[in-house]
Amino acid sequence: MIKLGINIDHIATLRNARGDFFPSLLAAAAIIEQNGGDFITIHLREDRRHIRDDDLFLLNNNVSTYVNLEMACNKDVLEKALAAKPVKVTLVPEKREEITTEGGLNLAGNFDKIKDYIDELKRNGILISLFIEPDVSLIDKICSLAPDDVEIHTGGYANSKNFKEKNKILSDIKEFSKKVKEMGIKVCAGHGLNFHNVEEICKIDGIEELNIGYSIVARALFVGLAKSTSAMKSLIRNSERKV
Ligand code: PXP
Repeated sequence: MIKLGINIDHIATLRNARGDFFPSLLAAAAIIEQNGGDFITIHLREDRRHIRDDDLFLLNNNVSTYVNLEMACNKDVLEKALAAKPVKVTLVPEKREEITTEGGLNLAGNFDKIKDYIDELKRNGILISLFIEPDVSLIDKICSLAPDDVEIHTGGYANSKNFKEKNKILSDIKEFSKKVKEMGIKVCAGHGLNFHNVEEICKIDGIEELNIGYSIVARALFVGLAKSTSAMKSLIRNSERKV
């Protein structure tokens, strides 16, 4: 059965818009867990634009499932990861100007640095996942890094412009997933998955976990907006001075 990790970064984005404690990430995590979410994913970015250091510790110490921490190879974030010791760290590339994680890890250009981070995290008992483009030419490098998991970057699939492009990327994902599984590494996938494109990914042999954030958090607004509006309207109706 495919597990679902829910990325709650964008709940933090909303929370930070008012500099408040509301909406609470811990309350969100509890709702997710009570409704089938298998674990909680957060990305502690170098610029702390959504998840903050205190969120990492609070969630890590209090969720009922576990935290999958996405992070770049950055010393300051590594320090926080080693102090919090989440169950799993997913190493991702990070550029300051990007809106969201663009592309998978550059294994060729940053091999030694990535290896050092993996070694340090593993020494601390943390499971390692690597966020990688579905490119079979990377298999040997992945093998020598020996991560516990590989998360296939599905952004290219999600953003594909036509059926031809989409089918080509799907077949790359299938081939890549097969090879990763053959190495005894757990296959995960994520990025850009939504209510229209997730089914094709679920049919791929080998995929054991998905990480989905934006589409779930965005849809929550719409499925909750009617209830939220009528609750406020009833409160106003029931409290207003009767004339
Ligand atoms: N997996 C990784 C490694 C990511 O960086 C992200 C985005 O933070 C996701 C999954 C979730 O992507 P989305 O928010 O588009 O569902």
